[in-house]
Amino acid sequence: MTCTYDYSHKLISIEEALSKIHSDDFVISALAGAEPKGILEQLHTIAPRVRNVSVATCLPLHKGQWYTDPAMKGHFMHRAWFYTVGTRAAAGLGTCSCVPCHLSTAGHDALKRKKPNVFLGTCTPPDRFGFISLSLSATYEREMMEAADLVILEMNGETPWTYGDTVIHLDDVDFLVKNDYALPQLPIVDSDDRDRKIGAYIGDLIEDGSSIQLGIGGIPNAVAGELLHKKGLSIHTEMFTDGMLDLYEAGAIAKSAPGTDPRMLAGKMVATFALGTQRLYDFIHNNPAVAIMRGSWVNNPYVIRHNKKQVSINTTLEVDLTGQVCSESIGHKQFSGTGGQADTAIGAQMSEGGKPFIALYSTAQVKQPDGTRKTVSKITPTLTPGAVVTLHRSNVDYVVTEYGAVRLKGASVEERASLLISIAHPDFRAQLQEEAEKLNFL
Ligand code: COA
Repeated sequence: MTCTYDYSHKLISIEEALSKIHSDDFVISALAGAEPKGILEQLHTIAPRVRNVSVATCLPLHKGQWYTDPAMKGHFMHRAWFYTVGTRAAAGLGTCSCVPCHLSTAGHDALKRKKPNVFLGTCTPPDRFGFISLSLSATYEREMMEAADLVILEMNGETPWTYGDTVIHLDDVDFLVKNDYALPQLPIVDSDDRDRKIGAYIGDLIEDGSSIQLGIGGIPNAVAGELLHKKGLSIHTEMFTDGMLDLYEAGAIAKSAPGTDPRMLAGKMVATFALGTQRLYDFIHNNPAVAIMRGSWVNNPYVIRHNKKQVSINTTLEVDLTGQVCSESIGHKQFSGTGGQADTAIGAQMSEGGKPFIALYSTAQVKQPDGTRKTVSKITPTLTPGAVVTLHRSNVDYVVTEYGAVRLKGASVEERASLLISIAHPDFRAQLQEEAEKLNFL
């Protein structure tokens, strides 16, 4: 139906949008699939006239020239709240730096440092009253839009209309750039034998009526596969994925589940952002069963704790024998970010009957300088020097590999070392035992 609200005066081109960014500005981009691809892909073109522009992103999906080209040093600084392929590649160029943060507080942390000048995001075309949906993310977008001097959104006819904190009025938007393009899709990672074993251990420990948070990748997909026959589950998660859609279609999700409900959300599947296949985008479009809410609420552990039997399933890069979890760096090299790992694991540990899981393969095949791969144990005596602790060992409970599931809560360092060695790859157990004895863990 035609929009009765006249917004023609707000329509500008990508070039006009870029002309509103100036030297020393602080620009914030929406997250992942909600990022304004058209504007970000052209950002480097203003380099000749700007210096010292900070651009904050979280989970950027584009590999823009504005931060991957060494010539952009001094013009732009990418303040990355969560690293991805492009930001990893930009290491050492002087164009990019990680901002350590929890997803629940990322926006508020940014505001403590500097007020944003420009917010860049995406939205659906308006309804007949002039309302739009921010579509794939409400993680920090609303807070940043409210704080920014200027709000510029790319209006993309391909974006699904989602409900929740995503719905705003065009009065709150300064400028719109019409730009229709297909949304980025996250291909389904097929589960292999190891994923299925891990999925089965975790699936056995998840009770009917649990509230679920799942990340992405082969392991979470395998866990979702193990939950298809469960009953009365609810979804309270950072990221809404295809795995959750499978659970919904299998009838595992309760339609009137009692969840965290200060905003009449009972029975809704709650997330801060969605990323997946076109099937997922079609499912969430105009679907009142899904609520995309702000991350400062969804990921807040003190909100999550009100869910009964909250389960968090997160993956990691390395766990040491005392239970310290590094999920965001390989040694000193930033790989991803804290994201919502600590938020969701701490929320689950506080929930009545809650279970936080850290799931990992027992080994990784690490690329060597000569291009070959070396097998290493992901359970290590101590963390690799430089490794970032994403989850403090006092917040770690279940750890699961393809060799079993162990519980660390309440366990001493001696017990933790024994438990973790018991689920390490058999080829590394003797070596881990020896190291643990040398370190006086055992
Ligand atoms: N030592 C050295 N390298 C290692 C390693 C280790 N212990 N473990 C993994 N790697 C390497 C792998 O070899 C792989 O390298 P490659 O790209 O050259 O093949 C790379 O690290 C990625 O490993 P993989 O197991 O494929 O990681 P992933 O893509 O499944 O991501 C996390 C796993 C932990 C990085 C990711 O889940 C994350 O960022 N988590 C933190 C945020 C979070 O949990 N958010 C919450 C929920 S939505």
